[in-house]
Amino acid sequence: MIKPDGVQRNLVGEIIARFEKKGYKLAALKMARPERSHLEEHYADLSGKGFFAGLIDYMASGPVVCMVWTGVNVVLEGRKMLGATKPSESAMGTIRGDFCVEVGRNVCHGSDSTDSAEHEIKLWFPEGVCEWDACTNAWIYE
Ligand code: TYD
Repeated sequence: MIKPDGVQRNLVGEIIARFEKKGYKLAALKMARPERSHLEEHYADLSGKGFFAGLIDYMASGPVVCMVWTGVNVVLEGRKMLGATKPSESAMGTIRGDFCVEVGRNVCHGSDSTDSAEHEIKLWFPEGVCEWDACTNAWIYE
């Protein structure tokens, strides 16, 4: 997901381009303006944290871009492409390493496991995602 700061800073195309160039394929894409209750559910595991209220305010402050990407090891590799949660710990060359300075404005979200990806896909795309043969490019997949 591209968070509100990423959208407002015109990083949508840049972030999508990185995933496309890596070799991943889109299975779903939409812009959304989520309700606070939806965001609270998304971040339910962080509800006890001191930054939770600020996180929900920030995530509710503007539109987000929700995506489902497919391909080999996409959850693990996608997290590497995003970089560490704190931009100060994110390697240069990662999205967070290249485009932000504050943890509370870290531009993007990525599921941290296949289980959470399945849960988050159901939460954000209850209508389902596009089923297509996305992994057949012989120049990307052996
Ligand atoms: P978390 O799930 O720990 O990280 P990630 O997004 O890398 O999976 O935290 C969710 C978001 O909460 C994180 O992207 C930014 C915000 N956050 C803060 O605002 N302050 C913090 O100290 C932490 C750890 C996270």
